[in-house]
Amino acid sequence: MATLQELVHGRPWNARIFYAYGLDPSSNQSLQQACQAQQVNQPELTRHLEQVWEGPQALQRLTPGQLLDYIVHCHHRYLRRALPHLLAQARVLTQNDSRYQSILNELWELNNEANPHMFREEMEVFPAILDMQGDLARAPHLPRWIQRLEQEHSRALQHFLAFRRAMEVPEHNPEARRLMAGLADLDEDMRWHMYAENDLVFSSLRLLA
Ligand SMILES: [Fe+2]
Ligand SMILES: [Fe+2]
Repeated sequence: MATLQELVHGRPWNARIFYAYGLDPSSNQSLQQACQAQQVNQPELTRHLEQVWEGPQALQRLTPGQLLDYIVHCHHRYLRRALPHLLAQARVLTQNDSRYQSILNELWELNNEANPHMFREEMEVFPAILDMQGDLARAPHLPRWIQRLEQEHSRALQHFLAFRRAMEVPEHNPEARRLMAGLADLDEDMRWHMYAENDLVFSSLRLLA
């Protein structure tokens, strides 16, 4: 059976899915061994790996229920693990070099905005999408909720533009390089997350309106 490291080869997005599930993407353990050791639901994780085996465009083939499940388990979990870790890295760097203060501020704001945003998606908006069963008349408040989420997505994008500018500056400090690598992963994950929500889930609801 392939190791986690082998499963990431050629499919870097699998590393972020493993990270979301609390597994080490560089591990030489098989998927089964890693899932048993970390008490991870292997069938669920395997399902998500298979859903995006061919890349993000494969998300188009998922049903709304599968897509929302994938967003919560892979992207929301990823953000909830990655943001505190990146914040801690940025804090340490800022103690010795004030150049990183702006990244710390952006991460702090993103963290404060992302958590209630994901909470509303998971507790209100996603269940309402599933409950309405394709009939927008059953969820008349949904367009307003989605408009607010999309405005928040645009605001999040401003933080990511700041991260991209920061990543353009060559770094020699190994700690700063690790932070930039983490921001690059965060950026890539957010592109998939926005594609899944804005371009697939929310745009399909606009067609119903
Ligand atoms: Fe989300
Ligand atoms: Fe969102």
